[in-house]
Formats: sequence, structure tokens, C-alpha cells
Amino acid sequence: MATARHAVELAGLRHVFPGRGRSVQAMEAVRNVDLTVEPGEFVSIVGPSGCGKSTILKMIAGLLRPTEGGVRVWGEEVTGPRREIGIALQDATLLPWRDVVGNCLLPVELHGKVTDEARERVAGLLKRAGLAGFETRRPKELSGGMRQRVAICRALADDPTLLLLDEPFGALDALTREQMNIDLNRIWRETGKTAILITHGIEEAVLLSTRVVLLSERPGTIVDVITPPFPPTRTRELLSRPEFAEVCGQVRDRLFAGERAASATETGA
Ligand SMILES: Nc1ncnc2c1ncn2[C@@H]1O[C@H](COP(=O)(O)OP(=O)(O)OP(=O)(O)O)[C@@H](O)[C@H]1O
Ligand SMILES: [Mg+2]
Repeated sequence: MATARHAVELAGLRHVFPGRGRSVQAMEAVRNVDLTVEPGEFVSIVGPSGCGKSTILKMIAGLLRPTEGGVRVWGEEVTGPRREIGIALQDATLLPWRDVVGNCLLPVELHGKVTDEARERVAGLLKRAGLAGFETRRPKELSGGMRQRVAICRALADDPTLLLLDEPFGALDALTREQMNIDLNRIWRETGKTAILITHGIEEAVLLSTRVVLLSERPGTIVDVITPPFPPTRTRELLSRPEFAEVCGQVRDRLFAGERAASATETGA
């Protein structure tokens, strides 16, 4: 009998960045993170700046080794970058000398040969992301939002089964961001990927996710997991519903409860 595989399993994950000489002390970024993500889920990770979110994502992607604990993707221990994982890093930029299609094909080239199938997949992704007609443009000829959509298409170009996104919409204005959220929800549903998104946006996390994972201040550890009770298709209309505001309120309360507890400990209250 085939055993059901989890998409991602994090067990007792910890990461300490080593110090450097006397001036830079070692830094414990992530502590004791346990999390299982099931196939087809969309999980967001929310937490204060510097609490270790990108560090967790890099460990899942195999770009950073855990100091303690382990990461499994589709049942296998992650020891380095893997083809099944598509990632859009927080500070990832497009190559300025390549056009849109050339940028998207980069992970395919890194993993092997560019086939007709890969070209067709990229063309389909660009269309879905509203970038049809821009295939031969260079990054500087696109808007900021379009560049971020290209980065998401690039993350999906080699048909990964796990999509990791680190603050992909951080630099966008509220209106564009809302549109991108709706687009991302549609892409996730249409492609059937498992996705992990890091974001500062509580509304964004609740709008997109099947589960929202809340992290404490550094060293980041999971303080709560909230399951927004909405069907997979998320529309703009959901944003103005009272149930939506209620779930966002729960997330906010839990995050600030953590902050209040930390400051009470500091002040000895
Ligand atoms: N390469 C590194 N070397 C040393 N320390 C690092 C390194 N990368 C991150 N850190 C430290 O680890 C901590 C967590 O960083 P991380 O980038 O994971 O935070 P984050 O939660 O993603 O923050 P933000 O929301 O601002 O992106 C920070 O204190 C940071 O200074
Ligand atoms: Mg980060």
C-alpha cells in the first residue's frame, strides 16, 4: 500500500547563524519549528521582521542547512536545492539582459535542456499571469508588478510541485497587490501546486491561505496556526465580508498577544 506523503515536514528545526570575530555575535534565528504541509495546501507564514521567516524558507529550499532538526519534501530529506522546488526569493531580481521568456527559462536551463514542453509551459504561465504580449520585453521595460509576476512565473517554469514565495508583493501598492493576490489564488488553483508564502500582510495571508502559521519574535517559533474557513476560490468580494475581518482580527490578536508577552517578560511585569 502506498503511504500518503506529506509535501513538507519540518521537525525540530533550528538555525543559528555563526558569529564573526568579536564584533558579530552568533544569532539564533529559528528555534524548534515543527510543521507539516499537506499536498495542495497554501500555507502562509506571518511574523515580525527579522523573526526568521526567510531563514525557514531557505532551509526548506535546501539553500541553508539547519543547525538542528530536519526538512523533508515529499518524504525525502532535503540536503540541497531540488528540482521539485520552485522559489521566488525576497531579494531575487531578474537578469536585465534577458527578456521575459529568457528569465523564466533560467531554472529549466539550470536543471537540464530547454524542451518545447518547457517553452509551452512558460508561454501558458505568462498568459495566466497577464503577461501575454510582453514575452520579448526586458525587465526594465516592465512595471514593478509585472516584474514580480515574471519572478513567480520563473519559480513555476520547471513545473515544481512545491512553490516557495518570500514576500513576492512587498514593494507593490495596495491596488496592484490585491490584483496580484487574486491572480496568485487562481494560478494556485489551476496548477494544483503546494505553496508556502511568506508575508507581512495579515489580509494577504488570510485571503490566500488554507492555513496561516504565526511566528514569534526572533528566535522565530510557531505560536499559533489559524485555518481560514473559506473555500479555495478567493475573490475580491471576500475581502469585505465580516467573516474575513473576523479571521484577520484573530491573526492580529495572536500576533500582538505574543508581542505583549515578550515586552511583559522584558519589563518583568
Ligand atoms: N546570512 C546571514 N548571516 C547572519 N545573520 C543572518 C543572515 N541572514 C539572516 N540573518 C539574521 O537572522 C535573523 C532572521 O533573518 P530572516 O531574514 O530570516 O528574517 P525575516 O523574518 O525574513 O525578516 P523580514 O520580514 O524582515 O524579511 C535576522 O536577525 C538576521 O539578522
Ligand atoms: Mg525575510
